[in-house]
This record gives sequence, C-alpha cells and structure tokens, in this order.
Amino acid sequence: MPSFTATAPGKVILFGEHAVVYGRPAIAVPVVDVRARAIVRADPRGKPGCIQVQAPDIYLESNLEALSPDQPLARVIQSTLTTLGITHPSACTVRVTSTIPVAAGLGSGAAVSVAIVRAFSAFLGHPLPDEEVSQIAYEVEKLHHGTPSGIDNTVITYTRPVYFVRAIPGGNRTASLIETFPIRQPFTLVIGDTGVSSPTSIAVGDVRQAWQADPARYERLFDAIGTIAGKARLLMESGGSNSLGALMDENHSLLCEMGVSSPELDRLVETARSSGALGAKLSGSGRGGNMIALADEEKAEAISQALRSSGATRTIVTTIKSSMP
Ligand code: MEV
Repeated sequence: MPSFTATAPGKVILFGEHAVVYGRPAIAVPVVDVRARAIVRADPRGKPGCIQVQAPDIYLESNLEALSPDQPLARVIQSTLTTLGITHPSACTVRVTSTIPVAAGLGSGAAVSVAIVRAFSAFLGHPLPDEEVSQIAYEVEKLHHGTPSGIDNTVITYTRPVYFVRAIPGGNRTASLIETFPIRQPFTLVIGDTGVSSPTSIAVGDVRQAWQADPARYERLFDAIGTIAGKARLLMESGGSNSLGALMDENHSLLCEMGVSSPELDRLVETARSSGALGAKLSGSGRGGNMIALADEEKAEAISQALRSSGATRTIVTTIKSSMP
C-alpha cells in the first residue's frame, strides 16, 4: 500500500517577535530536534473521496467531512486539494504526530501544516513547491491567530535561518521580504520551556490593543526591536555570533516593556544568565512558552540543568548553522 511521509521542524524566533507583525525585521531559525510528521496512506477499502484524519496527540480520529471547515487540519487538507484543483481524491488516511510542544512558541501549528501539505500533495501525485506549501500554512495560521506575520510558516517551510520583513497594509512593500543568510560561526542555544501554555492569539491581540491605545510608545518599541534584528543579522553573517548575547538581553527588556513576558519567563532568563549564558530572552509570543539562551558549547549542559532546577519543564540544546538537516 503506497504511503507518503513528510516532516517539518519547530522554530524559535531569535529576534523581533511581535515587532515583526508591524513590519519590522525579525530573525527566526529552525529547531530540527523537534518535528511534526505526517503520513498519508492509500485506503484501498475506503469509499472514493473518503479521507480519514488521525491526530493521536489531540485524540482526534474523524472523517474529513465530519470536521468543521475551520478545524486547522481539515483546512490544510482542503486547501491542498483546492490548490491542486482536485475534487475526488482516492480514499486515504492522513495521520499526523508531533514532538513539538503546543502553544509554546515553537511553531507547532505551522509545522503540522507544512508536514501535511507535503505528504498529502505527494500522495496526490503533485508535490507542491515551497512557496505554495508556505502559503497554505500561512492561511491556516490565520485561524490560530488573526494577524500572523508569516515568519513561522516561512522558517519552517525553508528549514533555514530567515530574515523576514512582513508587507503591512499601507507600508512600502508589496510582498514580504524573505531572505536566508549564511551563519558564519555556528552557535549553541539552550531552549527552556516554562510549561505555561500560551496561545499566540492572546499575546498578539493584547499587543494590538496596547498599540492602539498608545501608538507612539509601541512604534518606538517596535523600531528599537527592528534595529536589534538588523544588527544581529550583521553579527551572524560576519562571524560575531558570540556577541549576540547582549542583543538578546536588550530585546528581552523591550519585550518586558511591551508587557509580553511573565514571571516564569523572567525567572528562566535570569537563571540562564546567572549560570553562564551569554544572553537570554523570551522567544515567540511570550506570556509563557519558551525562552532561549546563547551559550558557549561547553556550558550548555550546565545551563540546561540550571533551567530545569529553576522550573523548566523541558530543555533543548541545539546548534544553529546555515544549513539544517
Ligand atoms: C509568534 O511565533 C511570533 C509573533 O511575532 C507573531 C507572528 O509573528 O505572527 C508573536
């Protein structure tokens, strides 16, 4: 029985979360140590057109037809069919599993979408190119939170470090800028999970309200964060990755001012710094989820231990380089 499998990595935002929604540059990198996996298998006994959806991690097992069109997995499958102009696919089972923590800022929603589009379009005989894979994942991100910047689906689709500037309404770009760039000196990150689940939509919605209430203050914060992302890219390209720590600390302070940190995130950021990290910040939408710390390779394990002693429910030590498997 033919089957098609695809995987997609998690991600962290190194610099620029939230400000990226408002057209400032941001940098994100894939985290290949965690992955979503989709397997699509033909079902020779199924009725033509019948698609069975299985997602054991969320206890979902259902016929596609029985799911609401706004259910994210149903939307990914339906959008793939629409993009390919296929109305009567052969009967099959689409099964998705993931080791990426949910609502933790690691891009689990986008990774699930990317893995499904790749496996399902291959099953249908027309593997979609990256641009279309990313576009479908972006459409589904809109269901998770109304105004996604597009950085998550982009970095996860391309599996490379990405410098990203969103095209915003009324801005001077007609399309988002997506640039991959070389990292001259690979570096080590320790990722620490607060264990506090934090849906992106809530933090993004709160920032929007705060921006509407005091646009001048928030525009200043966004500008300062955008400037940091620009400097960080230059450092990464020129071999100065070890100097990124100070920029991470600065970016974290600005996110605190923006109101998206939390006591748990601040505690892990402090722990990382006091146990030898070169810098640390929250990563993603904040309020919970994950923080990241830049570490000398030989200190990474000790920092990871310290984070766990300080309440991190999970840590990942990962190396960031230009090309990730
Ligand atoms: C979420 O991973 C990053 C945010 O900047 C939202 C977005 O870019 O869509 C908070």
